[in-house]
Amino acid sequence: MPQRKVKPLIAGNWKMNGLRNAAKELRRMAAQCAKSPKPKADVLVCPPVQLIWPLRETVKGSPIRLGAQDCHPKASGAHTGDVSAEMMADVGARAVIVGHSERRTDHGETSGLVRQKAEAVHGAGLTAIICLGETEAERDAGRTIRVIGKQLQDSVPADSKPQNTIIAYEPVWAIGTGRTPTLKDIEKAHKALRTRLVKRFGADGEKFRLLYGGSVKPGNATEILAIDNVNGALVGGASLKAADFIPIVQAAG
Ligand code: PGA
Repeated sequence: MPQRKVKPLIAGNWKMNGLRNAAKELRRMAAQCAKSPKPKADVLVCPPVQLIWPLRETVKGSPIRLGAQDCHPKASGAHTGDVSAEMMADVGARAVIVGHSERRTDHGETSGLVRQKAEAVHGAGLTAIICLGETEAERDAGRTIRVIGKQLQDSVPADSKPQNTIIAYEPVWAIGTGRTPTLKDIEKAHKALRTRLVKRFGADGEKFRLLYGGSVKPGNATEILAIDNVNGALVGGASLKAADFIPIVQAAG
């Protein structure tokens, strides 16, 4: 049965890219979003944290909202170099990406820690975008569904709601590589995640946004976004330039 309509979200993850002059590119994105046809999707851009406060002026009056990348699980305290979700909320972020594979790999983050971070995001009144995905070895071993099911179970807090939690399925081997799973494989993964969300959260499970991420480009966005249970995309490389990002936004309908 086709899934009930969930408003799509196109989220850009700028990762560790962007100086203050990135405002120029974001202004271009905002201007293009303001043109008709108006985007049918919600649009979020997650720049590096130091840009959130200055860029809020840039997106004022446009459909683009700002988000952040990663946070500490605590709201404040003696944690040199860390930034809390509360601080991100304070400068204008609406959402925080947690559990990205680059965090899980580069910083050894476990699903248990990701859950605590998501709880901190909720505590700050923001939306947690919780990422998960299998490695290439796990895929080759036919373990994709088992791996992402476990990550979902362990990374998503018990009190999550569709209003404050978004799941992003990002196969690790597809991130920044130009490779993507087949449409059938994306459909299968998203269906498995949906089934688990419904089992755990009841009717609410139908309403969580499930984003696909990993080498989404203008050239493949339309077919990926048309897949059942794909409620948007988390876009890395192609979110840095308006010329790539806005066609992806326009592909969501
Ligand atoms: P990519 O990154 O679009 O550059 O593959 C996606 C992500 O890591 O969120």
